[in-house]
Amino acid sequence: MSQLQALMARGTAFLGSDVAIMAGAMSWISERHLVSAMSNAGGFGVIAGGAMPPEILATEIAATKAMTDKPFGVNLITMHPQLTDLIAICAQHKVTHVVLAGGLPPAGAIEQIKAFGAKVICFAPALSLAKKLVRSGVDALVIEGMEAGGHIGPVSTSVLAQEILPEMADVVPVFVAGGIGRGEMIAAYLKQGAAGVQIGTRLVCATECIAHPAFKKAFLRGNARDAIASVQIDPRLPVIPVRALKNAGTEEFTRKQVEVAAMLDRGEVDMAAAQLEIEHFWAGALRRAVIDGDVENGSVMAGQSVGMVKTEEPVAAILGTLVREAEEALAGNA
Ligand SMILES: Cc1cc2nc3c(=O)[nH]c(=O)nc-3n(C[C@H](O)[C@H](O)[C@H](O)COP(=O)(O)O)c2cc1C
Repeated sequence: MSQLQALMARGTAFLGSDVAIMAGAMSWISERHLVSAMSNAGGFGVIAGGAMPPEILATEIAATKAMTDKPFGVNLITMHPQLTDLIAICAQHKVTHVVLAGGLPPAGAIEQIKAFGAKVICFAPALSLAKKLVRSGVDALVIEGMEAGGHIGPVSTSVLAQEILPEMADVVPVFVAGGIGRGEMIAAYLKQGAAGVQIGTRLVCATECIAHPAFKKAFLRGNARDAIASVQIDPRLPVIPVRALKNAGTEEFTRKQVEVAAMLDRGEVDMAAAQLEIEHFWAGALRRAVIDGDVENGSVMAGQSVGMVKTEEPVAAILGTLVREAEEALAGNA
């Protein structure tokens, strides 16, 4: 067994994959093609169920199963109004791994997933929450730093890794995400105790990824400093920051926040509905960029590792490069 395989052993045993590299769910992007390609290449694909109604999720799971017999997961967003129905679809389709994103799971969600034998993976944004999640029965954690694309927390990956891995790595498998563009970084997090990693940005320009050619071109052109976090406009309306390539859509988000804050003021929505309104905005803006190719007005969510995305190539080639770089880094250190 190579040093890399040994360091990944807990992660691969947990996921049932050859390498402990998860393809983080990306709304509109992580559908049957990318997910099956990732799992077929030996990694672990995850369907982005966050923006899907239950019947679409059911279709997507079945279609993914038709394209791979390898394990894959389903990502659900905790604030989805139909979370219970979406979990029921996962149960019906015997999904083996459910990733819960977007904050602490509501009461009963973890139990509902474990009841049909699936493993539950949750995002832990801080050590105290990591401990709380494990106490609630979560089987593995993802720690995702603010370098990542999409919705982000305030803390960098390197600090989260130093705070959480020493305390939690022996308790449950911990997967590190955010800003990973090369294998050397994967090797480093594994040596710190991570069971594996999760990547998103690095996979967007995979040949198998259905993102519009204009979306992929924006990634190929983008540099780290172009992938900026959205800014909260109104202190009364807490919005989760989103990292995306700067464009006209970035300004549109400012306008949207003013609009939603005014709805809040007029009593037309409560805080939960206001936040859902913001999430619907992001889902729509991301769809416009990913599917329609409107990379000027839509949201081109991308992490800071976007500058390391240099070419369009098959998932197997991307994974092969990351694994080779990780192995070389470990050999060099030996
Ligand atoms: C375009 C895009 C869309 C994303 N959508 C989601 C999502 O729907 N749900 C989720 O949990 N994470 C989402 N993410 C985060 C990824 O799953 C992953 O954790 C992240 O991309 C890892 O950081 P990296 O981009 O630096 O590799 C998204 C990321 C990107 C780039």
